[in-house]
Amino acid sequence: MQLKNYDGLAALVTGASSGIGRVLALRLSKAGARVALVARREVELETLASEIRESGGEVLVLPCDVAESEQASEASKRALEAFGTVDILVNNAGYGGQSNFLDWDLEDMERMMRVNYFGALYFTKALLPQMVERKSGWLVFVSSVSGRIASPEKSAYAATKFAMTGLAEGLSLDLEVMGAGVHLMTVFPGVIRTPFFTPRMLRDMPAKTRDSMAEPEALVDAIFDALAKGKREVTFPSGLSAGYVVKALAPGFLRNQVLRVTKK
Ligand SMILES: NC(=O)c1ccc[n+]([C@@H]2O[C@H](COP(=O)([O-])OP(=O)(O)OC[C@H]3O[C@@H](n4cnc5c(N)ncnc54)[C@H](OP(=O)(O)O)[C@@H]3O)[C@@H](O)[C@H]2O)c1
Repeated sequence: MQLKNYDGLAALVTGASSGIGRVLALRLSKAGARVALVARREVELETLASEIRESGGEVLVLPCDVAESEQASEASKRALEAFGTVDILVNNAGYGGQSNFLDWDLEDMERMMRVNYFGALYFTKALLPQMVERKSGWLVFVSSVSGRIASPEKSAYAATKFAMTGLAEGLSLDLEVMGAGVHLMTVFPGVIRTPFFTPRMLRDMPAKTRDSMAEPEALVDAIFDALAKGKREVTFPSGLSAGYVVKALAPGFLRNQVLRVTKK
């Protein structure tokens, strides 16, 4: 289902206080959508909301920890009360990390799954029914290339994104079988220049990767383009999707390539 005209639509973006979510929310507003901003840091959300209002947009600030199901359901309720509908849900909130499996704190591994995976699940559970009822809506899941190809020192993060990819793939098929009129698109970003990367992650990153980071604006261009074409997934930069084919056809070769390119 193509999405070209955002006029009058209402969108909810999780993780809107920073990085990809912030740029996406701004772009959605510029395109004519009313936008609900979800994240924990209220000050950052209010700053973005002022920017949106100054350019004539309609915006709602919903401070929320997406890992808490009650907070997610309350934020969804408030968006529906304010806008009447939520036509576009962007499940984007998330964080990463880097550690050898043995050193990765178990509590952080659990927390990451709750934020990156359960956060998306809670908002989808809360907002999909009214889309199905109206037979109209768009779900955008921001997964990661790490949600299809794992790499060293990313085990916990890759697990959260593989979970998200699986949920998105299965749900997309359910929606099709149901004839729900709701389109789901999964986004697989590569390495995007945002505060996602801690100083340690940046320091340990191979110089070639650090130097070739893509800007969030370019990713958001690709997301809008893919939505306009009715695509079900988008990998950005697009060349990375060759890795999925290589993984399917020659997994041993792909594994050696991953080890080679991530070598410090
Ligand atoms: N940057 C990349 O290279 C890259 C690559 C692949 C995938 N991704 C994915 O893209 C998404 C956005 O990341 P980004 O690069 O834009 O990073 P970012 O700049 O660090 O933004 C992350 C956003 O998620 C929000 N968030 C984190 N924990 C949250 C929680 N418990 N409840 C509510 N919001 C929470 C943060 O807001 P608060 O801190 O205010 O809560 C922030 O708005 C993530 O899911 C990430 O995994 C990023």
